Amino acid sequence: MKLFKSVILANVRLNKTTFLLQVAIGNSEIEFIPGQFFNIKVSENNYPLLRRPFSICDYSNGILTFMINLTGEGTELLSLKNSGDNLDLLGPLGKGFDTEGDYEIAIIVGGGIGVAPFPFLTRKIGKDKNIITFIGGRNSKNIITYNLENVLKATDDGSAGFHGNVLECLTDYISNNSLPRYKIFACGPTSMLRAVQSFAKLNNVECQISTESSMACGFGLCQGCAIEKSTQDNYLLICKDGPVFNSRDVLL
Ligand SMILES: Cc1cc2nc3c(=O)[nH]c(=O)nc-3n(C[C@H](O)[C@H](O)[C@H](O)COP(=O)(O)OP(=O)(O)OC[C@H]3O[C@@H](n4cnc5c(N)ncnc54)[C@H](O)[C@@H]3O)c2cc1C
Ligand code: FES
Repeated sequence: MKLFKSVILANVRLNKTTFLLQVAIGNSEIEFIPGQFFNIKVSENNYPLLRRPFSICDYSNGILTFMINLTGEGTELLSLKNSGDNLDLLGPLGKGFDTEGDYEIAIIVGGGIGVAPFPFLTRKIGKDKNIITFIGGRNSKNIITYNLENVLKATDDGSAGFHGNVLECLTDYISNNSLPRYKIFACGPTSMLRAVQSFAKLNNVECQISTESSMACGFGLCQGCAIEKSTQDNYLLICKDGPVFNSRDVLL
C-alpha cells in the first residue's frame, strides 16, 4: 500500500450516471491485481473526511482507470474533477481475484457498476483463457460493456439481450451449451452475488466474488467492514481479507 499523488488525465462520461476517471501515477513498483481497490480522497479539504473505495478498472503504463457511478456527495465531487487536477490515492488495497486453477473458460458475471473491475481482469486473464462475460442491468441504459470481451447482456425489462436477470441468462446459456471446465468471477449487488454463490455451489464450480461494504480506513484498522465466514462463527474484513473471496468462504 502506498500514497500516490496522481494527476487526472481524463474524466469521461460513459452514460448519465457513470464516468471514467483516468489518472497518471507513473510506473508502479507494486504489482496491481484485478479486484484490488484504491481509497480515494475526493476533495482538497477535509470534507468529506472519509476516503471512498473504488476498484481498479484498468492499469497500464502508469495510467490507472476508475469506473465510477454517481451515488452521493463523494462521487459527485469526483465527477467534477478536470484534467490536470491532482488526486490523492491510497492503495492498492485488499486481495484481488485468484485467477489460478484448472479451467479453460473464465465466466465473468457483472451487475450494474459491478463491471468496474472487469476490464483489468479481462486484460490479465484474456492472454491465457477464453472469456464469456455476462452483464446484467435494469435496462439497456444500465448495461456497461467498456473494454469487456465476448459479452452477453441481460436486462430486467428485455430492452437489450436476454429478458431476465443475469443469473437466469447464465443458467440458460450453461444448459444450452456444453462448456469445458470453467471458473466464475462475479461482482455486483449482494442479491446477484448470493444467486451466483448458490449457482456455483449447486454446480460444484470454483467461484470468486467481489463483495462490498461501507469502509472507513480501508486497510484493517477500524473493523468496520466485517463479513461472516461460512465455515465457523467468525468474521473476515472485506477491506483486508477481501474484497474478493472464494464464494464458499463467506456468508452473504
Ligand atoms: C472495495 C470496494 C470497491 C468499490 N468499487 C467501486 C467502483 O469501482 N465504482 C463505483 O462506482 N463504486 C465502487 N464502490 C462503491 C463506492 O465506494 C461508493 O459508491 C462510494 O463510496 C459512495 O460515495 P458517495 O460519497 O458518493 O456516496 P455517500 O454519500 O457515501 O452515500 C450515498 C448513498 O449511497 C449509499 N452507499 C454508499 N456506498 C455504497 C455502496 N458501497 N453500496 C451501496 N450503497 C452505497 C449510502 O448508504 C447512501 O445512501 C466500491 C466499494 C467498495 C467497498
Ligand atoms: S474499512 Fe476499516 S477495517 Fe475494513
